[in-house]
Amino acid sequence: MFGRRVMVVGTGYVGLTTGACLASLGHEVVCADIDAGKVERLRRGVVDIVEPDLAELVSEQTSAGRLSFVVGAGAALGAFEDSRPAEVLFLCVPTPMGAGGVADLRAVESVIEEVGAELAAGTVVVNKSTVPVGTAARTAELLERTDVAVVSNPEFLREGSAVKDFLGPDRIVVGSDNQDAAERVAALYARLGAPTVLTDAASAELMKYAANCFLAMKLSYVNAMAELCERVGADIGDVTEGIGYDRRIGQAFLSPGPGWGGSCLPKDTHALLQVADSADFEFRLLRATIDTNTRQRQRIVDKVRLAVTGKRTGSLSRVRLALLGLTFKAGTDDLRDSPALAIAALLRQAGADLVGFDPMLRGPGELDGITLASDAVEAAQGAEAVVVLTEWAEFRTLDWAEIAGVTKQPIVVDTRNIVDPATPRRAGLTAVGLGRQQDTVHQT
Ligand code: UDX
Repeated sequence: MFGRRVMVVGTGYVGLTTGACLASLGHEVVCADIDAGKVERLRRGVVDIVEPDLAELVSEQTSAGRLSFVVGAGAALGAFEDSRPAEVLFLCVPTPMGAGGVADLRAVESVIEEVGAELAAGTVVVNKSTVPVGTAARTAELLERTDVAVVSNPEFLREGSAVKDFLGPDRIVVGSDNQDAAERVAALYARLGAPTVLTDAASAELMKYAANCFLAMKLSYVNAMAELCERVGADIGDVTEGIGYDRRIGQAFLSPGPGWGGSCLPKDTHALLQVADSADFEFRLLRATIDTNTRQRQRIVDKVRLAVTGKRTGSLSRVRLALLGLTFKAGTDDLRDSPALAIAALLRQAGADLVGFDPMLRGPGELDGITLASDAVEAAQGAEAVVVLTEWAEFRTLDWAEIAGVTKQPIVVDTRNIVDPATPRRAGLTAVGLGRQQDTVHQT
């Protein structure tokens, strides 16, 4: 039989996607979580996170009898058909960034403590979370089992397209110092036909950081280039289109923005810097990538300040601003490390009054000192500028004439360059973006 018995511990973005997708590939999957309420909801097919296709896949696989949910890792051990033991255990528990940028492994440790001794001989323990180099070795130490192998199999899922990314991956990475175990894990994905990199544990662990930090560097580079465009009268859209045709660079991940955020890129860049520091390696390029991103937030605040007051040093005190989009990117309800919220905090520090609208957070309500409105026009009432912070598609087609009719000053600052500047301009608004020709800064 093709299907393997797979236990997944943790039903967050990664765990639930992994469980449901592995079930759809024909494996028998038992997902465990310590949150009993969540498990009960999942059994009824209720998925708390916003992720396209995930709820449908969970219901479909649960009905097909390939996917089930239990409370606690211990309960998963006896939950397979005919009480047979799990063959593979996926660890998909959170590894938050702890003090000094080091990932906090307590959740991994507690799973090992709970079920490590009970695993059948020959079980493979797979780490899917992004963890510091050396964690596979550390996990093996904690396990104290010579008959249970540890494998690192990093995930590369993006929020908002996790199922699609899982079932159509660019590559599968499996690393272990036990090649037989690595091959068994790779075989779970065989039906996907994706290129597979079989390597040692440390290389697999480093690969995830290498990928995410490279992406962060690409974005910091583009944001810096957009700033340069403003100084030399060039257009970042044309520049990135032009360089993107070079296959060595590629068109993806070249949109300037308010800075990168989310649950992975900020955490991973800091963690890799920590890995480098502890290996006595001064990773200047990575530090500059992070610094450029921090600076980008201040740059947006300065742009808003200049647009609203006409002065670089103008005051934003008591200035009412409408913020459109608060999630860290479009297509998710995730606010973790959202650049929009970081910029909002800086604007508030500067004394501005903030009203926000996000399609995922309908008002009335309040979030971090931002009054939530129930639509963009309501948010724009009396505002001295409308600031677009997340690239929600619906912001492309806003009725700018209506917005211009309710704002105090007709200004839109588009930090994602998603609004065609001609549209608000026709409605009488001044449109400010990032690195477009009309954003050229005339040095005085
Ligand atoms: C990322 C990685 O892409 C994924 O492979 C990894 O597994 C987890 O981290 P995710 O955090 O879901 O995924 O977000 P992603 O789509 O990569 O965006 C990250 C940040 O970069 C967001 O703040 C986004 O708005 C920003 N971004 C992305 C840009 O500013 N411009 C772009 O062109 C692309």
